[in-house]
Amino acid sequence: MTPNFMSKFLLLPRPLLFLLIHAGTLNAQNQVLVLNQSLSLVSNNLPNPPTFSIPASSTPLTISIAFCETPQQDGPRFFVTNDTGIGDPGPGSGGDVFEITVGENGMGNVTLDSISNGGTFAVTAGTSQLSFEVGLSDSGPLHSQLTSLPLLGDSTNNQALLFSPPFLPVNPSDPTYPNYTLPLGNITQPPPPDSSQTPNFTLILGPTTSFPTFDASNNVLSNNFPMTACALRNVSNLVVGESTNPPANAQASLWLRDSDGWRTQWIVSGLDSITNYTAYVVQDGTKIAGPTYFRTKTAIFSCPLVHSLPFCPSTSYSVPLPPPPGTAVTTYDASNFPSDVSDPLIQYMTNFTVTLLTFACGRDWYSPLQTCADCQRAYRTWLCAVQLPRCGEIPDTTTSASTPQSSSIDSGAQVVFPAVLSQPKGDIARNTNLPNATGDWVELLPCLESCNAADRACPNFLGFMCPVPRFNAASSYGVGFIDGDEKDKGSDWEQDGGMTGLSQDRWGHVWCNG
Ligand SMILES: *[C@@H]1O[C@H](CO)[C@@H](O)[C@H](O)[C@H]1NC(C)=O
Ligand SMILES: *[C@@H]1O[C@H](CO)[C@@H](O)[C@H](O)[C@H]1NC(C)=O
Ligand SMILES: *[C@@H]1O[C@H](CO)[C@@H](O)[C@H](O)[C@H]1NC(C)=O
Ligand SMILES: *[C@@H]1O[C@H](CO)[C@@H](O)[C@H](O)[C@H]1NC(C)=O
Ligand SMILES: *[C@@H]1O[C@H](CO)[C@@H](O)[C@H](O)[C@H]1NC(C)=O
Ligand SMILES: *[C@@H]1O[C@H](CO)[C@@H](O)[C@H](O)[C@H]1NC(C)=O
Ligand SMILES: *[C@@H]1O[C@H](CO)[C@@H](O)[C@H](O)[C@H]1NC(C)=O
Ligand SMILES: *[C@@H]1O[C@H](CO)[C@@H](O)[C@H](O)[C@H]1NC(C)=O
Ligand SMILES: *[C@@H]1O[C@H](CO)[C@@H](O)[C@H](O)[C@H]1NC(C)=O
Ligand SMILES: *[C@@H]1O[C@H](CO)[C@@H](O)[C@H](O)[C@H]1NC(C)=O
Repeated sequence: MTPNFMSKFLLLPRPLLFLLIHAGTLNAQNQVLVLNQSLSLVSNNLPNPPTFSIPASSTPLTISIAFCETPQQDGPRFFVTNDTGIGDPGPGSGGDVFEITVGENGMGNVTLDSISNGGTFAVTAGTSQLSFEVGLSDSGPLHSQLTSLPLLGDSTNNQALLFSPPFLPVNPSDPTYPNYTLPLGNITQPPPPDSSQTPNFTLILGPTTSFPTFDASNNVLSNNFPMTACALRNVSNLVVGESTNPPANAQASLWLRDSDGWRTQWIVSGLDSITNYTAYVVQDGTKIAGPTYFRTKTAIFSCPLVHSLPFCPSTSYSVPLPPPPGTAVTTYDASNFPSDVSDPLIQYMTNFTVTLLTFACGRDWYSPLQTCADCQRAYRTWLCAVQLPRCGEIPDTTTSASTPQSSSIDSGAQVVFPAVLSQPKGDIARNTNLPNATGDWVELLPCLESCNAADRACPNFLGFMCPVPRFNAASSYGVGFIDGDEKDKGSDWEQDGGMTGLSQDRWGHVWCNG
């Protein structure tokens, strides 16, 4: 025992000292790691002996470690063996003993391919205290980082609409000839997946200043802070939303925005204006996605969020509408969305579909790649983007590169200005069915690619035309962000070859409504 440890120990009040000793002497020989479960441990308060049995399995099992706080020098070490003859695997045991090394991201794992007789996991405590989790799984490491990021829908001055990474991709089943039917204007979402197919997503959200800095090029956090669910969950000043039991300031639901799959959708309220926020999403308590950054709008921003419209499934942003009637709700969804706006939109969709179906869809082909159903989907996406304009704000030039810690991902120091256009109060030219705006507002223009996608996906006879960048497209669309500018078309024009290649990124930049 180091003198340091000793003095800490002696400072404890008597009853607590007794408790600790008692807990430490508990015989826990038959501690077992349970499949698909994570166990929380603290290195200076381990069971005696600090070993855990691993059940026998006919398939490979992975043991994973996640640090829940920043490791100090001489912290614990972790060993596993599939040799039942080794009761206390450690650095000197020899044989089939494997050390789990924990990386800079605070996670480590070892997979035992052959474990037909079971095995043992052991911790060598070290001298500095560390809390950590150990997980056992038959489907890869229980503790891991998801490759998809949380997605920002949009923010207002005090709210944010955020999505978990997608799960359960949905392949639209296209109709076939001779019964080539398409839903006309209105569509409904398929029934949400049942709970056995729905991951338990948790949102970790807080002001960027309360989180350790993220180094994107190495995918680690500053000062060795673990990039793990248990560590980030514990960062102070957080709003934590549980998907199943959201706190009052976060509303959660499932939503199918697009074919990427279902996502958990959160509407978080009570945020501060003009503040950088950081979001992480935790899946099933142990898998981490993020960080994704965003910034809230200025206090005068007045466009409410619109979300969960079955006929416009990917609309999840602020729209120039008056505040929703009543005081209880502050956002629009299908239940309170003005029918003066939705009815004509659905009518356009219906009329378009009726005309589209005059083509012998499924019997004749207008393209080797596209079907009538593809055309209808692309048209719906475009129609919703132009009928429901998105509000934005003109970034002030000092913060136009509004990147909280944008290290290498968008180095090359992009200062790409978003496609924003000031709109005077009064008639909303894009959609005269929208109520007249009562004040000036700023539109974040739709990405031109949503128009080009509909143009590409639909038969020529429909006469669908998109403006050409040379002739003023930039007055109504964001041009050149995702794909190259049309005027560059020629040798180096390419899809996704635009200034940003994306409509938005993880750092909170949103360049066009896409
Ligand atoms: C453990 O979880 C994986 C992935 O969710 C699942 O496929 C597997 O059946 C689970 N195993 C048990 C024993 O619950
Ligand atoms: C333990 O695992 C190693 C490597 O997978 C394997 O070679 C060995 O046979 C296993 N031992 C037992 C007792 O299963
Ligand atoms: C699991 O361990 C392997 C080998 O050490 C490593 O390459 C991989 O990144 C680890 N996975 C996770 C999720 O930590
Ligand atoms: C045609 O397809 C629709 C939707 O898939 C179905 O409801 C309808 O019964 C089908 N009609 C015929 C004649 O098969
Ligand atoms: C769309 O269809 C659903 C289900 O039939 C219906 O409940 C809803 O009111 C319709 N929406 C609109 C805007 O017509
Ligand atoms: C997590 O936070 C709680 C409360 O702030 C604190 O008591 C606990 O020690 C922290 N745990 C870790 C592992 O940092
Ligand atoms: C979901 O995860 C959270 C945090 O990991 C946990 O508190 C909650 O009990 C879980 N809910 C379900 C239904 O598993
Ligand atoms: C849709 O078509 C109907 C019938 O042709 C027409 O009366 C209506 O004005 C059209 N609606 C729109 C929004 O174009
Ligand atoms: C948000 O982050 C950016 C980039 O780090 C910084 O320039 C800006 O001042 C921050 N905004 C606020 C309100 O903290
Ligand atoms: C909206 O404003 C336009 C002029 O900008 C006016 O002609 C129209 O009547 C207004 N509509 C409503 C519903 O107030």
